[in-house]
Amino acid sequence: MNAIETSQLTKIYSGLGKKATRSLDHLSLSVQEGEIFGFLGRNGAGKTTTIKLLCSLLKPTSGEAFLFGQNARTRESRRLLGYLPEQPYFYEFLTPRETLDFYGKLRGLGSSERTRQWERLSELLDLKDIAHQRIKSFSKGMRQRIGFAVALVGDPPLLILDEPMSGLDPVGRRTIRELILRCRDEKKTIFFSSHVLADVELICDRVGILVRGQLTQCGRVDTLLGGHVDQVELVVRGIRAETQATLREQAEQHRILEDVEVFVLGSRAAANDAIRLVQSGGGEVVELHPIKARLEDYFMREQARHEEVPRGDVA
Ligand SMILES: Nc1ncnc2c1ncn2[C@@H]1O[C@H](COP(=O)(O)OP(=O)(O)OP(=O)(O)O)[C@@H](O)[C@H]1O
Ligand SMILES: [Mg+2]
Repeated sequence: MNAIETSQLTKIYSGLGKKATRSLDHLSLSVQEGEIFGFLGRNGAGKTTTIKLLCSLLKPTSGEAFLFGQNARTRESRRLLGYLPEQPYFYEFLTPRETLDFYGKLRGLGSSERTRQWERLSELLDLKDIAHQRIKSFSKGMRQRIGFAVALVGDPPLLILDEPMSGLDPVGRRTIRELILRCRDEKKTIFFSSHVLADVELICDRVGILVRGQLTQCGRVDTLLGGHVDQVELVVRGIRAETQATLREQAEQHRILEDVEVFVLGSRAAANDAIRLVQSGGGEVVELHPIKARLEDYFMREQARHEEVPRGDVA
């Protein structure tokens, strides 16, 4: 079964005196159980809008969302869901222990179960040392750990996290990445939005790219990148001076290493031309390395490709 399924999900915000804008435009997406799904998009792409629709904090203008086959607007579907907002809000005078207890009560957990949850989550999120300090003095990283713990209260099978790594230092980002992987090991499904592409690339099974409210790409990271060979590194030996001069003009980079020379060509076609040139000039191709696009480059290209298309303004 799919943990998340959306069908033509659309959100138009309309405000008094303001032009209504289609912030999410016919999003159809499915996330399988047990997957880590990364939801990518620039500021204003519609990531938070999507997440709020999944958590039923907003009502869709049209279309539907389902969590484990149940309409996201039902109370039953919300029981299956843990949510970390983009800017988690806490009662500043409560301690982490009291905060988790409060959310445990909201989930309807009894006193012994709440104690059991605290033991488990304080261990997992390293909250024991700060258990009795008031949240108001906490740093961003500590707050994010508490927010994550709140999302895990009640052990829901689905986690929806809005920018869980934003504003954290590299150590904090790694902590969150490891927590996400750990939740996946516990067979949870994790859907999270991010700008931190390197983190997405490291841990996600699949990613979706949202541009101006529209899903432009969705798939496995390796499949998305597979067809995109940006550059080819060609290692050759024994080429004549005139061949070298021609290749240097065609190549983006050239360097000489002991008895071989390395040329970096800007495309597959340019590499093929270069290989023919080397062979016809009596040289030898020693090695050939396709340099695959990184997700970051792919993401930027996707953005640029769709940049010209205006967002669907609503009359
Ligand atoms: N309550 C609202 N009323 C009117 N417009 C809104 C509202 N919330 C969001 N929008 C608009 O909807 C679009 C998508 O916003 P959203 O917050 O979903 O983007 P996002 O991808 O989460 O961006 P960010 O990366 O900055 O968090 C933006 O153009 C935003 O201005
Ligand atoms: Mg957002």
